[in-house]
Amino acid sequence: AVAAATRSPLLGFEAVAASTADGFAVPAGYVARPLISWGDPLLPGAPAFNPSGTQDAAAQAAQFGDNTDGMSLFPLAEDRAVLAVNNEYTNYEYLYAHQGEAELSADDVKKAQAAHGVSVFEIARNRQGDWQPVAGSRYNRRITAYTPMEVTGPAAGHALLKTAADASGRKVLGTFNNCANGRTPWGTYLTCEENFHGYFGSADAQFSPDRRQKRYGLAAKSDYRWFGHDERFDLARHPNEPHRHGWVVEIDPLDPASTPRKRTALGRFKHENAELIVAADGHVVVYLGDDERGEHIYRFVSKGRYDPANPAANRELLAEGTLYVARFGAEPGELKGRGEWIELTHGKNGLTAANGFADQAEVLVFAREAATRVGATTMDRPEWVAIHPDGRSVYCTLTNNSKRGSDGQPVSGPNPRAANKYGQIVRWRPAGGDHTVAGFEWDLFVLAGNPAVHGGTPYAGSANVSADNMFNSPDGIGFDADGRLWIQTDGDYSNAGDFAGMGNNQMLCADPASGEIRRFATGPVACELTGMAFTPDRRTLFVGVQHPGEDLKPSHFPGGGSAKPRSTIMAIRRIDGGVVGT
Ligand code: FEO
Ligand code: CA
Ligand code: CA
Ligand code: CA
Repeated sequence: AVAAATRSPLLGFEAVAASTADGFAVPAGYVARPLISWGDPLLPGAPAFNPSGTQDAAAQAAQFGDNTDGMSLFPLAEDRAVLAVNNEYTNYEYLYAHQGEAELSADDVKKAQAAHGVSVFEIARNRQGDWQPVAGSRYNRRITAYTPMEVTGPAAGHALLKTAADASGRKVLGTFNNCANGRTPWGTYLTCEENFHGYFGSADAQFSPDRRQKRYGLAAKSDYRWFGHDERFDLARHPNEPHRHGWVVEIDPLDPASTPRKRTALGRFKHENAELIVAADGHVVVYLGDDERGEHIYRFVSKGRYDPANPAANRELLAEGTLYVARFGAEPGELKGRGEWIELTHGKNGLTAANGFADQAEVLVFAREAATRVGATTMDRPEWVAIHPDGRSVYCTLTNNSKRGSDGQPVSGPNPRAANKYGQIVRWRPAGGDHTVAGFEWDLFVLAGNPAVHGGTPYAGSANVSADNMFNSPDGIGFDADGRLWIQTDGDYSNAGDFAGMGNNQMLCADPASGEIRRFATGPVACELTGMAFTPDRRTLFVGVQHPGEDLKPSHFPGGGSAKPRSTIMAIRRIDGGVVGT
């Protein structure tokens, strides 16, 4: 445990205790209030939320989407801003009047499709200092699984992206399973398509997935069963449709009429977030995690350079560039080492026609296979990436990995524990502070664990984990301007066995220099906390509560009483009006 005498002055709040309560706890001196919940009206004419589940697809398409995830804030004025928020997925057990086990109707499928995507809406601060949504603002927009989008980059127009409905291979409908996010210096929002495979399936009893479909998790059986009423999602009938998903999408949040752009140059995989930095020479660098057991960490470097004096010229910087994948070197017994970025360019590193990659589009559409071909390191489920505000170090959550130590995933380097239940955070420093070069040095910021259950073993966690701050499955991370590292968890909330004493999912705050980690907030029953955004004055922090009460677990958050649980963004403030975290 970190002794009181070494308490980091960077962390200016009292720790919150682990909790199994169905509420949202913040430190003494703070308050947290709901900003917006699933189903709240956003567009003109939208009805108020009705908990019966009988509202139809048209109602949902005008309301805030479900399961809030990554979000970014775009200031308009001191007391006005636009918030762009991912709506990752939906829980059928709450979405409908039935619990989703029944046969879905055509409108049920449409309603689910409308609950997904992105919500963009204006927020304003009132005289009491509380931020609230501005219903009916001209900025308010819902982007769903049916919003028209344009494909850009090397895979645009390629045969692999052409379908019966789109002979151009450039006009895609919609985005779904939008996990985390990114924000560009030219004022656009990046939304990242993660588990897109779960929406596809097939009614054709003869269908079985090929090797490449299997690598992306595509199967005849589908969790969401959209193919039953929407043949676009039937793999036997439209095998190229899944190639049009699994990308990073760029959205202009201040222009509701703009067409979102899918950026194929950043590769197709199960994207977590997109953390962006402009390198000293002006190239735009984006770090990207692929959240699956044994998948990889990627880096994109733009071909063009950012020009702050020419905003229009920056708008297509993510259309063209070079994709790389990380190989972490390992030295036995060391939890640090060197690594390198390996280029994923057709014709290099064995990415040739003879090896199954006809051109650059094929390298990008099947980026996972390309990464394997070049010897990328299999990671413990890469989730969010965050860059310290000094620009010198990059952090990535590796959330957990039940398969580590088996299934071709050796215990090694930054993935040092077999059957990894707890997760860790790896960080790397690019050689010379230059994010465009090949080399880096890495170490582990924290190994999560349970010192009360596994004392004296690697599963107790690293020295900065104690019975007072323990957690599992770090996922969302982000830095504030002072360099505090905020950590959100999406883990086992049983509070039993290996997870005894950890309670519900939570948010912590760390000092990267001292290593100290202190619990800042705890979420309600059966939720994860994911997504964070500070107002420019940092007096309000927005945090997402996703899927409270999932799988019919007993949550009534945030309404209380017998209310249906609803995914909600919380607005956290200090009672004295001070800067959050200080
Ligand atoms: Fe949507 Fe990997 O979390
Ligand atoms: Ca996540
Ligand atoms: Ca997760
Ligand atoms: Ca989630």
